[in-house]
Amino acid sequence: MASTATASIPGAEPETCAFDAFRLAVASKLTGPLNIPLEKAYEGVDIGKKGADFSVAIPRFRLGGKPDDWAKKVVDEFKPDQWVESATLDTAFISFTVKTEKLVRKVLTQIHDRTYSTPSGNAEYGCNKSGNGKKVIMEYSSPNIAKEFHAGHLRSTILGAFLANIHRATGWDVMTINYLGDWGTQFGLVAVGFERYGSEEALKTDAVHHLYDVYVKINKDADTEKAVNDALREFLKRMKDGTRAATVIPKWKRLRDLVLERYNESYAVYDAARQFFKRMEDGDEAAVAQWKRFRDFSLERYKQSYDRLNIDFDIYGGESTVSQKAMQNVMQKMNEMGMVEEGKKEKVGKRVINKEGTLVINLEKWKLGKPVVEKSDGTSLYITRDIAGAIERYEKYHFDKMIYVAGAPQDMHFAQFFKALDLMNFPWAKTLEHANFGTILGMSSRKGTAVSLDHILNEAQDTMHEQMKKNEAKYANVDDPETTADEIGLSAVKIQDMAGKRINNYEFNWSRMLSFEGDTGPYLQYAHARLCSVQRKTAQAGLILPSDVSKINTDLLIEPGARTIVYLLGSYPDVVRTALKTYEPSGVVTYLFRLSHAVSAAWETLVVMGQEEELAKARLWLFVCARDVLGAGLRLLSLRPLEKM
Ligand code: ARG
Repeated sequence: MASTATASIPGAEPETCAFDAFRLAVASKLTGPLNIPLEKAYEGVDIGKKGADFSVAIPRFRLGGKPDDWAKKVVDEFKPDQWVESATLDTAFISFTVKTEKLVRKVLTQIHDRTYSTPSGNAEYGCNKSGNGKKVIMEYSSPNIAKEFHAGHLRSTILGAFLANIHRATGWDVMTINYLGDWGTQFGLVAVGFERYGSEEALKTDAVHHLYDVYVKINKDADTEKAVNDALREFLKRMKDGTRAATVIPKWKRLRDLVLERYNESYAVYDAARQFFKRMEDGDEAAVAQWKRFRDFSLERYKQSYDRLNIDFDIYGGESTVSQKAMQNVMQKMNEMGMVEEGKKEKVGKRVINKEGTLVINLEKWKLGKPVVEKSDGTSLYITRDIAGAIERYEKYHFDKMIYVAGAPQDMHFAQFFKALDLMNFPWAKTLEHANFGTILGMSSRKGTAVSLDHILNEAQDTMHEQMKKNEAKYANVDDPETTADEIGLSAVKIQDMAGKRINNYEFNWSRMLSFEGDTGPYLQYAHARLCSVQRKTAQAGLILPSDVSKINTDLLIEPGARTIVYLLGSYPDVVRTALKTYEPSGVVTYLFRLSHAVSAAWETLVVMGQEEELAKARLWLFVCARDVLGAGLRLLSLRPLEKM
C-alpha cells in the first residue's frame, strides 16, 4: 500500500502535499473495481464535500453503463487499510474517510519538516515544484510620477506582491518590475508647473506629494485656460457674419490675452507642456536632466512606502526606459505588415473623436477599436511604449509568461496591445496576461477628505495604536508598539483588499476593516499572536517539544476539534495551488479565517496547560503547526505575522 501512496503520478507531490498521498490511496481503491489506470483514478479524487475527507464523482469517468452501479461496485469491494478507513455511497458519488491517526501524523510531520528542515532553510510548507524551470515577469504597482498614487495603484501593489509570492511558492523563477508612469505629456505639464509653483526644498523632502501639488495647480491653470478659450470660441461662433468676424477676431484675441492674464497667467500652459515633452523625447539635455531629478526624488519617496508595505521590486523600470529605437522598430514592423493606417474622425457612441494627423492600428475585427499609436507631432504614446516594452523584455528575459497587474478600466488597453503583438507574429504574445481588478470606492480619510496613501496608512496605524493602549498590561508587553500598530493597520488595509474576488469593487470601510472581531486583518494577526503566546506560556511552564517530533504521541489527538484543524492544515498546499490557478488572494484569506476560527473554537476543548505531559505536548504541537501554517499564509499575502500585540 505504501508503494501506491508514493507512486509517481503527474501533478501528485506527496513529498510536499500529504493530501496527495491520501488521494493516491483513495485512487488505488478505484482502479480495480472500475478497471482504470491509477492516473485517471487520481484525477477524479476531489476534496470532500459535506464533511467527507475526499469524494469521487463516478460519472466523470464516463465508463458506460450506470454510474450508480459502478459506485456500488467500488464500495462493495472496498477494504480499509492504514490510509483509508471507509467508503460510503451516495448514488453515483462516494465519500471516503481517511484514518485519523495517519492523517494527523502525516500532516503534522510534513508541516514540521517543511518548516524547520528544508534544504533552503526557508519555511516551505504549502510550496510545490510545479513551476520549476519556468520564468515569470510580474509587473505591478506602476504609479505615475507627479500624479496621485491612487487606490488602484494600492490594489495593484498588494495583489501583485501576492501573485509574485504565489509564483515563488510554486517554484517559478519570478522577476518583479515596477513600470513607473515616468514619461509622457504630463511631465511637460509638471515641468511648466514646477517653474511656476515648485520649491527645491519641498522636492527634496517629499517629491511625491510636492510634484502632485504642482501638478494639481498647473492643471487648474490649464483648465482655466481651456475654459476661457472655449467660452471665447463659442462667442466667436455666434458671430455668424463672416465680414464681422474679420473685425472681431483681432478684438477677440486681445480680449483673450487680457482675460488670461487676469486668470493667473495660465496662458498656453498646454502648448508649453507639449513643447517640453517634445524636448524630452528629442533628448534635450536640460529637459531630460530636470525630468530625471523629478523621477529620482519621487522614487526615493516611493521606496519608503514600499518598505513599509513589505513589498519590493527587482527592477524599477518605467515608460521612460522603453527605447526610441524599439518604438521605431515597432512602427516600422507594423507598417510593413499593413497594420497601420491614418487616423480619421471617429464616432464613438455620441462623441466624435478627431484622430486626424495621427497613426492608428485597426483592430476593429476583434472589437478592439482603432488605438492611436503615434501622435501628430510624432511623439509616442502609452500603448506604443507598452508594445515596444514587451518586445524588449522578451528579448532580454525570455519569460515563459508575463503578468501585468492593473485595474479593469485598462482591460481594453491590454487587450489592444496584446492583440497588436499577436498580429506582429510574436509567439510569446499568447503568454501575456492581464491580472485585473475592480475599484476601491471612497478611499479617503475618516473625515472624508481624499488624501494620499501615507495619510491612509498613518490613520490606520494611529487607530490601532489607540486600540492597543486600552489594554495596559498587554501594551506594556509589546516590544515596539509603533511598529506593531503599523503592521496591524497595514494588515487591516491589505486583508480588506484581498478578502473579495479581485474583479469586485469594494467600499473602503474604516470601522469594519479595523475591527478585531469579524473577518479582518487585525483578527488574523490576533489569532497568530495568540498561538505564539501559547508556546511562550507553556515554555515558561517548562513544557518544551522534543526536537525529534516522532516522539510526540499524536494518537492522543482524538477530539473532533483537533481533526478539523489537522484537516485544514493538510489542505493548505491545495489552497496555494488553487491560488496559482485563479490569481485570487481571496481563497487564501478565506482559508486563513477558517483556520483561525477552527483554532479559536478549540481553545476550550484542547487545553494545553495543566494537562498530563504527553497529552499537553501533542496538543501544543498541533497549535505550533497551526501557527506555522497561519504564519505562512499571512506571509504569502505580504503581511508580517506578529508574535505579540
Ligand atoms: N502607470 C499606469 C497607470 O497608472 C499603469 C501601468 C500598467 N502597466 C502597463 N504596462 N501599462 O494607469
